[in-house]
Amino acid sequence: MGVQLSQVNIRGCAGRFRRIALTRNSIIGALVIYALLFLALGPWSRWAIPLPFLDKPVDPTRQTNEAPMPPLSERVPCYGPRGQFLSRSPDDALHEVTLNITYPVPLTGSYEALGLDQTWMTPDGRYGPYGFGEHNATTYNRSRVDWDRIDWGKLQNECFDRNAHRFPESATGFDDMVKQSRLTTRNETQLPYVRRWHEFKATRRTAIVVRAWRGYDYKAEDMHSLRSLIVETSLRTGGEYQVILLVDMKDHNQTIYRSEEGYEAALIDAGVPPELRSIAVMWDDSLLETWYPDIYEHRTMWQVYQPMQILALHYPEFDHFWQVELDMRFTGDAGRYLGRLSDFARNEPRKQALERSTYQHMQAKIGSYDKFFSAVDAANNGSAYIWGPLRQPEIEPIGPEPPVPLAKDDDFKWGVGHDADVIVTSMCNNASAATYWVFHGWLGGFKAGEDTVRFFCPPAITRTSRTLLLAIHQGQLEQGLRVPSEATPPSFALYHGLKLSFPQMPVYWHKKNDDKVAEGWWKGGPANGNNGVGPVDMHHPPGEGLTFWWGSFWPRVIVDAWEGRELKEDREFPWILHKADDGQVYIPNLMLHPMKHNKNADE
Ligand SMILES: *[C@@H]1O[C@H](CO)[C@@H](O)[C@H](O)[C@H]1NC(C)=O
Ligand SMILES: *[C@@H]1O[C@H](CO)[C@@H](O)[C@H](O)[C@H]1NC(C)=O
Ligand SMILES: *[C@@H]1O[C@H](CO)[C@@H](O)[C@H](O)[C@H]1NC(C)=O
Ligand SMILES: *[C@@H]1O[C@H](CO)[C@@H](O)[C@H](O)[C@H]1NC(C)=O
Ligand SMILES: *[C@@H]1O[C@H](CO)[C@@H](O)[C@H](O)[C@H]1NC(C)=O
Ligand SMILES: *[C@@H]1O[C@H](CO)[C@@H](O)[C@H](O)[C@H]1NC(C)=O
Ligand SMILES: *[C@@H]1O[C@H](CO)[C@@H](O)[C@H](O)[C@H]1NC(C)=O
Repeated sequence: MGVQLSQVNIRGCAGRFRRIALTRNSIIGALVIYALLFLALGPWSRWAIPLPFLDKPVDPTRQTNEAPMPPLSERVPCYGPRGQFLSRSPDDALHEVTLNITYPVPLTGSYEALGLDQTWMTPDGRYGPYGFGEHNATTYNRSRVDWDRIDWGKLQNECFDRNAHRFPESATGFDDMVKQSRLTTRNETQLPYVRRWHEFKATRRTAIVVRAWRGYDYKAEDMHSLRSLIVETSLRTGGEYQVILLVDMKDHNQTIYRSEEGYEAALIDAGVPPELRSIAVMWDDSLLETWYPDIYEHRTMWQVYQPMQILALHYPEFDHFWQVELDMRFTGDAGRYLGRLSDFARNEPRKQALERSTYQHMQAKIGSYDKFFSAVDAANNGSAYIWGPLRQPEIEPIGPEPPVPLAKDDDFKWGVGHDADVIVTSMCNNASAATYWVFHGWLGGFKAGEDTVRFFCPPAITRTSRTLLLAIHQGQLEQGLRVPSEATPPSFALYHGLKLSFPQMPVYWHKKNDDKVAEGWWKGGPANGNNGVGPVDMHHPPGEGLTFWWGSFWPRVIVDAWEGRELKEDREFPWILHKADDGQVYIPNLMLHPMKHNKNADE
């Protein structure tokens, strides 16, 4: 197995070399050196270590349109928190059901287009395996777990080890953070300040990075959600994901990067529950300041991706990094949900991907996703606003050249089968036109100033590739290039010619059949634009009643009603829930955000 993989490597390297090296001789020379090193050292145990002859700074180099990667081989079952194989443990199982009723139609997005399951769950069916209801001796019929004794880092690593044969050799488990954190400040680091995409090989693994902070009050419902995320994304997928808790140490007074004892003391001080300590990576503002002295702003509101960029620099054994929030909820299997978003993005063509992401797919207005897709194509007259990199004088693009010079000559083939470098979770907007946006004028380092083209796709819940994060890191560190948080991954992806995708997941509005609101978002759809890149009128109805919207009140109401808590008088029972004849309440398969704490929600 190892030998086979290494041979594949040599071929892969040769492909890229053609672009770096200037002469045939240097290609042959490099291959000879590689072959000698390979013979002397054997296969690298960690491809995360830069290849020796690429260690020196080289000119930024561009990707080529390589063949898509093959699917991973079959998963080997893993142990869950009850010490049994998840595949054979009914107490660890979700109870997903299909009901003989019409599934509610979302305001935007589509189950069919994304291949999401139209299943339902009761609170016990969803969170019972993770401790929901465990304090009730009469109703809880699953075995109980002593959660404080669970080590989620260890369980994830054991699962990865059992499945290691599925992954390239560059893939590794995650360090036990209590014993060792790799994060370093710039003035003390042993790493090169800048690392580039071609120094790393695919590992086929994705980190799920949950943003937390010192003093966060972990409620029972947060723990149910975090446990479900780990089991369903990491353990049930045979190690394709690794969940990491990224803790902002806000105003702490400890030395966190030096010693094992210091690190553990700081984790306790941060309030990280025992079961999560081995996966908790701590950072503080001084870390961001040492790496990005030219970006004077490090606060989360402006630069939420900086800790992630530094994480990617220190933990390059992940191809992709999902940034998720503690106040998100997956009401279906989280691993399958994220898998479908990833599949959709992989299968999406590059042509008009940005254009499609600036309009909303609304089934009630246009029908299937295919019809929406065609409407965006028609609005662009078969061409595209973006084809290859969106050129900026400051940026040397790393994305591949388009296979044909003109977008209109591509039959939606380019990019199909390739993972997206950024998956966004809501529609994208032209930042220059969005004068209402609070961060409208906030950018720096670009010669064109406010005339710099940029797009933002809020919220900052995205999957971003190592390639893209390292490119953003380079731009911030060496050139002081900056745009606000929600514009950072999409804009840099477009400047570099990297793939962006917006899988339009289902989002509901708190009033059923509210035509006025639907019309307010639709604005005539793709046919009504003037250049095929988003609606002319950027105004839209308030989002505070959507299932996925930064300031929405509704997710809390939905979950309270689902779990049987009394609602405030002015709140209606959410129409998307289904109350069965036996009184059980079922929720559809959704990604909810935000779920604010409710003092009555703790059992
Ligand atoms: C589903 O419901 C419809 C009517 O609401 C009924 O005709 C049909 O037999 C039901 N199907 C099943 C499998 O129960
Ligand atoms: C357990 O659940 C039952 C049924 O919902 C309820 O009547 C009872 O009060 C609960 N007991 C406790 C201790 O919460
Ligand atoms: C636990 O009870 C629920 C109904 O309350 C039932 O659907 C489920 O099958 C039971 N689970 C086990 C493991 O007995
Ligand atoms: C590196 O920077 C940090 C943060 O500014 C500081 O605490 C530390 O003393 C510095 N280390 C060295 C070796 O200068
Ligand atoms: C940090 O602050 C706490 C109080 O918030 C104090 O008890 C502790 O001694 C301080 N530690 C250091 C190293 O200054
Ligand atoms: C973005 O908005 C600016 C300012 O309104 C406009 O000049 C530009 O053409 C827009 N770009 C696109 C692609 O719509
Ligand atoms: C598409 O063609 C129509 C008619 O020629 C024209 O009005 C429109 O501006 C074109 N749209 C784009 C995006 O080029």
